[in-house]
Amino acid sequence: MAERNLDFDQYVNRYGTRSVKFDFPEYFGKPGDVLPMWVADMDFKTSSYIVDALNEALSFGVYGYSEGLDGYWEALKGWMKRRHDWDVEKEWLVKTPGIVFAISQAVRAFTNEGDRVIIQTPVYYPFAKTVMQNGRKVVRNSLVFKDNHYEIDFDDFEKKIKDNDVKLFILCSPHNPVGRVWTEDELRRLGEICIRNGVIVVSDEIHADFAMERKHTVFARLGEEFLNNSVICTAPSKTFNLAGLQVSNIFIANEKLREAYVKEYRSTGYDEISLPALVACEAAYTHGDEWLDGALKYIKGNADYTRKYLEDNLPKIKLVKQEGLYLLWLDFRALGLKDEEINDRLINGAKLWFDEGKMFGTEGEGFQRINVACPRSTLIKALENLKKEFA
Ligand SMILES: Cc1ncc(COP(=O)(O)O)c(C=O)c1O
Repeated sequence: MAERNLDFDQYVNRYGTRSVKFDFPEYFGKPGDVLPMWVADMDFKTSSYIVDALNEALSFGVYGYSEGLDGYWEALKGWMKRRHDWDVEKEWLVKTPGIVFAISQAVRAFTNEGDRVIIQTPVYYPFAKTVMQNGRKVVRNSLVFKDNHYEIDFDDFEKKIKDNDVKLFILCSPHNPVGRVWTEDELRRLGEICIRNGVIVVSDEIHADFAMERKHTVFARLGEEFLNNSVICTAPSKTFNLAGLQVSNIFIANEKLREAYVKEYRSTGYDEISLPALVACEAAYTHGDEWLDGALKYIKGNADYTRKYLEDNLPKIKLVKQEGLYLLWLDFRALGLKDEEINDRLINGAKLWFDEGKMFGTEGEGFQRINVACPRSTLIKALENLKKEFA
């Protein structure tokens, strides 16, 4: 059997499919006729191996309580080794219905109310939300924008940790939205600061499979001390467009940390991930390589197309250097407009629905995030609309 879903140019009509991205603009206060390029899922059909495996499991007609068989573990272990050169052990694994859920459990398990958690802004906004919703406080280590890319201010990171007696660090690696694939050296420096100061690291590596500029480094691979001081959050959901199935695999090698985590997780009353989640994850990690390689190539083509289009047609809107992800970070600041005006003109003039940069932290003012996991024809339409409005 061969992979059948490699035509990424194919337009897939997602309207009327219960899609959060397409079917609910009014709910999010947007007009109904905007082109949605916001939330991070793809407009591609996933691997045909996943579709076939789901069809087979769902046509069976019995959907009782389910658990992964050996194939689930073998697939997961094989993927981590093959794609990330990481040897995982079975007892480290905790399966959860998503990464945000997993991060929330980590916050509850490893900190007390009022404790401080550090994040690197601008960053995926549910990090701050999750910390605050659990009654903890957010400490921000702002990333530094320099030469059209972002860097870490390590001195500020350590100072903020010390000054605020920070207990937990939520690392975004690779980083959403700024598109950095952190180098081994950067990760090591962050990890060493955390070890020195007794800060546990929750490493959200959901975008790991989209590292393009360099190989992704799993935080726990940096050495024994790093492995024992971290919670590694992985998932097939971004990689294979399975967000609606809610599946993630969390690895915690340190037994003490794992026990505390599992205790917290159990206290929610949640037990096992769903049957479709188990089936899809196993099929993805067993047979999904060819599909992912095709998707990566296509997305890279979209990013390159966007860069060139902007340079040629809209030189005041700059694509920040992107090292990975299917989310691009656009710098609108040279237009000299206020965010409110940019947002208004994007939505009502260009009819485009991006994610405004401010959502990710005040450092995101003047920026917009755009999702380019779509057919080239959709991207071209979006860029043409952008040109009509802003050129
Ligand atoms: C960095 C990051 N973490 C987590 C998520 C969401 O994960 P989940 O749907 O498994 O909660 C996203 C989705 O965009 C993300 O970008």
